[in-house]
Amino acid sequence: MSNMKTILAIETSCDETGIAIVVGEGKENPSITIQAEELASQVAIHKEYGGVVPHLAAREHEKNLPILLERILVGSDPTKMDLIAVTKGPGLSPALWRGINFARELSEKWKVPLLGIDHMEGHIAANFIGEVSESKFPILALTVSGGHTQLVLMRDWVDFDLLGETVDDAAGEAFDKVARMIGLPYPGGPEISRIAKDGDKEAFSFPRPMEHSKDYNFSFSGLKTAVLYTIEKLPDLTEQTKKDIAASFQQAVIDVLVKKTLLAAKEYGAETVLLAGGVAANEELRSQLGKAIAETLPTTTYHIPPIQLATDNAAMIGAAAYIRTAHGETGSIGADIAAEPARLITD
Ligand code: KG4
Ligand code: ZN
Repeated sequence: MSNMKTILAIETSCDETGIAIVVGEGKENPSITIQAEELASQVAIHKEYGGVVPHLAAREHEKNLPILLERILVGSDPTKMDLIAVTKGPGLSPALWRGINFARELSEKWKVPLLGIDHMEGHIAANFIGEVSESKFPILALTVSGGHTQLVLMRDWVDFDLLGETVDDAAGEAFDKVARMIGLPYPGGPEISRIAKDGDKEAFSFPRPMEHSKDYNFSFSGLKTAVLYTIEKLPDLTEQTKKDIAASFQQAVIDVLVKKTLLAAKEYGAETVLLAGGVAANEELRSQLGKAIAETLPTTTYHIPPIQLATDNAAMIGAAAYIRTAHGETGSIGADIAAEPARLITD
């Protein structure tokens, strides 16, 4: 088909260097597939510091990008790409700039247009990669990552409305901080969910902040502090207690996320609810949100990304770029894109 597009996508907003080649086709029911994908994780480097160190992340991106590019281009003619897509934000400024500058050089060298993409839009677009049933609007997206927690309403493919967001910590950030409190390494989300499997989620009754507020905002800072006070009062932190804390904390986060998502889905008549961002890799969240939707909103379609596409990757950036080009955006050769470290999807 003539509208088929091949896109080289680059992601460097945080601690994963990603390059992917994505092929897209179609407009209202786009078919998006991953042709090739390279990802270099920096977890081992940042682990020592208990979190991501921006200048180290930037240095690693700089080192990794040419290596990943060489690998991904084997056997393909880069000048035949239709577009280069790069994450412009939100994210860590020095990290974002490495990707943007690298992408701009390629754009000029190959004479291929360049388009900047919102990282959170990318997380949402991860849901549209591969075999996907028809997407019915309005779509409500719960985006939960290390830096963001948002409820976003999509009335159409490139129409994003922020309904609410966290007023303090992001959901993933809370997982990371609680993990640290109980001696688990960075990133804490996967570790918490791993040990929570053997814990009792009713062992501790942690607060569900803003659970009953009538808006779509979230707050996780008080919950994190409640966990800290609980730990401080314990005579000793046994392995089983750690598991119980992990399970109880995880359940408190999930309860609030599920409650607010259902509330928004009802009010806005969402035909589809989708989950996006690194915390969307959480098995309990994936299944509990799905169950709640099936029980209370049986006609609403629930969609989750494959686990490996939930956390940061470049294919999702390529997918978001494809959707934008299918709706008329073109980008330009050597486009002058500035890193935008703060959030982009706004109300
Ligand atoms: O989207 P992402 O890869 O990077 C950002 O854009 O921030 O999200 C990373 C966040 C981290 O806070 C990490 O702990 C969390 O996602 N995460 C999880 C799980 N896997 C990753 N949180 C809970 N459960 C998981 N299985
Ligand atoms: Zn992310």
